[in-house]
Amino acid sequence: MHKKIIIAIDGFASCGKSTLAKQLAAKLEYIYIDSGAMYRAVMLYFLENNIDINNQDSVQKGLREAVITFKFNPETRTNEVCLNGKNVEKEIREMRVSQRVSELSKIKEVRLAMVRIQKAIGANKGIVMDGRDIGTVVFPQAELKIFLTADFDERVRRRFDDLLNRGITASREEIAQNLQERDVIDTTRKESPLLKADDAIELNNTFLSPDEQLEMVYSLAMEKTGVQV
Ligand code: CDP
Repeated sequence: MHKKIIIAIDGFASCGKSTLAKQLAAKLEYIYIDSGAMYRAVMLYFLENNIDINNQDSVQKGLREAVITFKFNPETRTNEVCLNGKNVEKEIREMRVSQRVSELSKIKEVRLAMVRIQKAIGANKGIVMDGRDIGTVVFPQAELKIFLTADFDERVRRRFDDLLNRGITASREEIAQNLQERDVIDTTRKESPLLKADDAIELNNTFLSPDEQLEMVYSLAMEKTGVQV
């Protein structure tokens, strides 16, 4: 049995982070956690309960009420996010959530609450987590950090197809605008903005297939675990 490591995958919206993270975790038999799904689930709770994200007391109350957990789905072989026990994997991808989630993610208390859960899930290593601040804040000690990038048009195309597959309709224009807005908020916010960790490996996957990017990162992971491939 080789030593288990932590793999952090960060990058802009819709760069293929979760595709890579999911496949990598399956291949390594690691846990996969989509940290963005947690922020999305909290946003969903706030939307459904008319909680004002600009009111500190309401935010604190909302954070206490919105219990975020993950449940392993043997069919998809991934951990799916649950909000107060209910699987919300589909709802959290809707545009109404995408449109507000980055505003919510700017708030320090929200980040502290999510990061606490994320650190606890990764305490035993053997985990692949994707997001914005995984290599910088959640797991600065991660043995392997990947910073994914892709051309903007390709990112829009991927998100459009992804939503279509999930049965969610949104126009290309709407998606492009949302990705752009979230990138700006995520990179310029005060609390743990999206940035490449000094020791992260940058990978532009615009012209890579999912299998190609998986092979590349899998080899890097094997180097880190001390296994020759
Ligand atoms: O749409 P995409 O899959 O690229 O984003 P996501 O991973 O679902 O994350 C949704 C939003 O949550 C991001 O745009 C960020 O505002 C926020 N987020 C964050 O602040 N920190 C993370 N570690 C993950 C997501």
